[in-house]
Amino acid sequence: MAFGVEELHPIFAARVTGLPVTADVEPDAVEFLEDAMAKYAVVVLPAQFIDDQTQVEFAKFFGPRETPAVATSLFGNKTRLPKYLFDASNVGMDGEILPADHPRRAIRKGDLNWHSDASFNPVPTKWSMLHGRIVPPHGANTEFCDMRAAYDALSLAMKAKVDRMVALHVWWHSREKGGFDQVTEAQRQANPPVYHPVARTVARSNRKALYLGAPVKSIVGMSDAESAELIEELTAHCTQAQFVYSHFWHAGDLVIWDNRCTMHRATPFDDMLYKRDMRRTTVVEYAPNWAAVG
Ligand code: OGA
Ligand code: MN
Repeated sequence: MAFGVEELHPIFAARVTGLPVTADVEPDAVEFLEDAMAKYAVVVLPAQFIDDQTQVEFAKFFGPRETPAVATSLFGNKTRLPKYLFDASNVGMDGEILPADHPRRAIRKGDLNWHSDASFNPVPTKWSMLHGRIVPPHGANTEFCDMRAAYDALSLAMKAKVDRMVALHVWWHSREKGGFDQVTEAQRQANPPVYHPVARTVARSNRKALYLGAPVKSIVGMSDAESAELIEELTAHCTQAQFVYSHFWHAGDLVIWDNRCTMHRATPFDDMLYKRDMRRTTVVEYAPNWAAVG
C-alpha cells in the first residue's frame, strides 16, 4: 500500500494517508509510522472509522499500553470504556453530555493547560493516540507545540542551563491548577512526585527536546518562586505561534502525538451543548531516559 504524507505546518505535524488503523499492523506500516513520528512528532490519520477494540489492538504495535488507572480511580473506577482506553470526552456512562457539576469536567479543565500526557508517571509516555468519535461542528481544536524546535531556538546559555536541569512533576499539581480540589490523601500517596530531566534526547529522531507541562511544580535546586518564573518563561517560549499547530477535528481522525517532544492543550468550546466523544490509547517507553541528563 502506498503511504502519503502531507505537511500541516512549516516545522512539524503531518497528515498520513494510506495507513489504515487495524487490529493487525504490517511491519512496513509500523516502520513508516515510527519514521513519520520521529520526523513530524504529530501525525493525523484521517477518516478512521474504528471501534474500541481496533484502537486498542493498533496501539500495541508501538509500545506497552498504559492503563489509565489514575484518572479512572477518581470516579470510583467507573468507566464506559474497555481497559487501555482513556476517556477524554464530555459524555457520561450513558453517552449523554455530563452534568455541569460532574467532577470529570473539572479534571478535563486541566487539559486546557499545556501538558505532556502522564508526565507525572516515572516512565515517560511515548505516544498518545486520540480518536475523535463525535466532534463539535466548530472550535474544540487541540493545539500542539514542537519542543524540539523550541529547544533548538534557545540561546546557548539557556541550553547549557536546561541541559542540567531536573524538574519535579506532580500529578495533582496540574489538576489543582484546573480547579479540581477533591484529590484525596490516598491518591496523592498512590501518585508520588517524580523527577524528569528538563531536556532530553528522543530516540529515533535523536533530537533534543524540552520536557515540561502543567504537572511541573518546581526545578530541583531552585526556590518555588525562582522555579515558577523559569517554568513560565520556558513555557511561553515553547508555545509561541511559530511552534504551534492547531488541529481542527473531523470525526474519524486519529491524532498521534509524541509526548516526549511536544506539549498539547485542549481549547474551550460550548461543552454543555455539543458532544465531544474522544478516546485515547497511550503507549509508554520501556524505561526512564536518564542518559539524557548532564
Ligand atoms: C488528551 C488531551 C485534548 C483535547 O486527551 O490527552 O489533552 O483536545 N486532549 O481533547
Ligand atoms: Mn492530554
